Amino acid sequence: MKKKNALLALGLALGMTVTLTACGSGGDGKTDGSNSGGNQAASTVANKDKPLVWFNRQPSNSSTGELDMTALSFNDNTYYVGFDAQQGAEVQGTMIKDYIEKNIDTIDRNGDGVIGYVLAIGDVGHNDSIARTRGVREALGTGVEKDGGVISEPIGTNVDGKAKSVKDGTLEVNGKSYKIRELASQEMKNNSGATWDAATAGNAIGTWASSFDEQIDVIASNNDGMGMSIFNSWSKDNKVPTFGYDANSDAVAAVAEGYGGTVSQHADVQAYLTLRVLRNALDGVDIDTGIGTADDAGNVLGEDTYVYNKDQRSYYALNVPVTAENYKDFTDSTKIYEPVSKQLDKEKSPEKKVWLNIYNSSDNFLGSTYQPLLEAYDDLLNLKVEYIAGDGQTESNITNRLGNPSEYDAFAINMVKTDNGASYTSLLN
Ligand code: BGC
Repeated sequence: MKKKNALLALGLALGMTVTLTACGSGGDGKTDGSNSGGNQAASTVANKDKPLVWFNRQPSNSSTGELDMTALSFNDNTYYVGFDAQQGAEVQGTMIKDYIEKNIDTIDRNGDGVIGYVLAIGDVGHNDSIARTRGVREALGTGVEKDGGVISEPIGTNVDGKAKSVKDGTLEVNGKSYKIRELASQEMKNNSGATWDAATAGNAIGTWASSFDEQIDVIASNNDGMGMSIFNSWSKDNKVPTFGYDANSDAVAAVAEGYGGTVSQHADVQAYLTLRVLRNALDGVDIDTGIGTADDAGNVLGEDTYVYNKDQRSYYALNVPVTAENYKDFTDSTKIYEPVSKQLDKEKSPEKKVWLNIYNSSDNFLGSTYQPLLEAYDDLLNLKVEYIAGDGQTESNITNRLGNPSEYDAFAINMVKTDNGASYTSLLN
């Protein structure tokens, strides 16, 4: 009881200070007549000043990839949390190339001297997806440069090797030269517009296999959701390795059954960072607390797990390859990261309310790996998080459910389309 009163007093004191500051600085005067009846402290800070974190989909132009710095610096407590897409793309590409080299004697199923692969693309306008497509093409020598970067668009089919957006690569192994060809690639988008769509990928492999079955020696997928759909519908039975991304538990388990490999984007670190930056901003402590600098409970991240880019206001987790050699260390993708697993003190970090959305309730990575991790960390960080599941198609399906932002102390946003930061920030202004 005593504890509760002390907290209430603290909350009121904080609320008062913030109200005064907001008035003094000519704040937007949104006093929220609709009175949520919720957390006092939440309703007295102007929504535009509340901590905001973008995660998983970085505010950026979906055609050029240019970062949307307006969204990324919406207020002083705005950040992005994701992973290092370039480094991860290299990890994925190299993992596939290494596999081909190691298995060169058996990989060419029809023995025609051409190693053929097909590629499942997640979302042509998503930085992570673009990076992964480029990483595969760069490592296998099939990329074509345009305007200083490797073309990342899908090619449709290219069985004859005549496509303009990719070229045949060459691989020298044991003094012998092999051709590598991207036989086909496609954005996996369903009829309703949902991207990274696993079911679409499962159908695509059926179509590809029926037209050029024996030519397919390897499968690359921008993520495990699509990769596992391909694996289960065709590649497992035909003993053709599929390489995905995300290290979801089901994909890691499938490595024992012939799934080629995957990449851990350190979701355990990302989920922690997503909530940790909000926690730090709400507590008014240095943003590095519990990240690069140990907090009072002893939580701290190792330097080898993330990088922070101050100009981009972005935290990027680092990626690790997961293959037949080490998959046993990654079997549970929902296990929190031990160095940041200690409970925060409720006196110093009192409970706060966070509104958080997942852009698509059927996204395999976000649903089976990221959200369970967030749910584990929210307790440790004393955050009461309301999880909103989107339909993966329209921003309004999600924004409609942020009717009263004044009820919350902070926001964590996962956009449907990376261009749409303003759809959310306009609700806070
Ligand atoms: C993940 C994908 C996921 C996408 C959603 C990516 O980082 O690798 O699996 O579908 O995020 O935005």
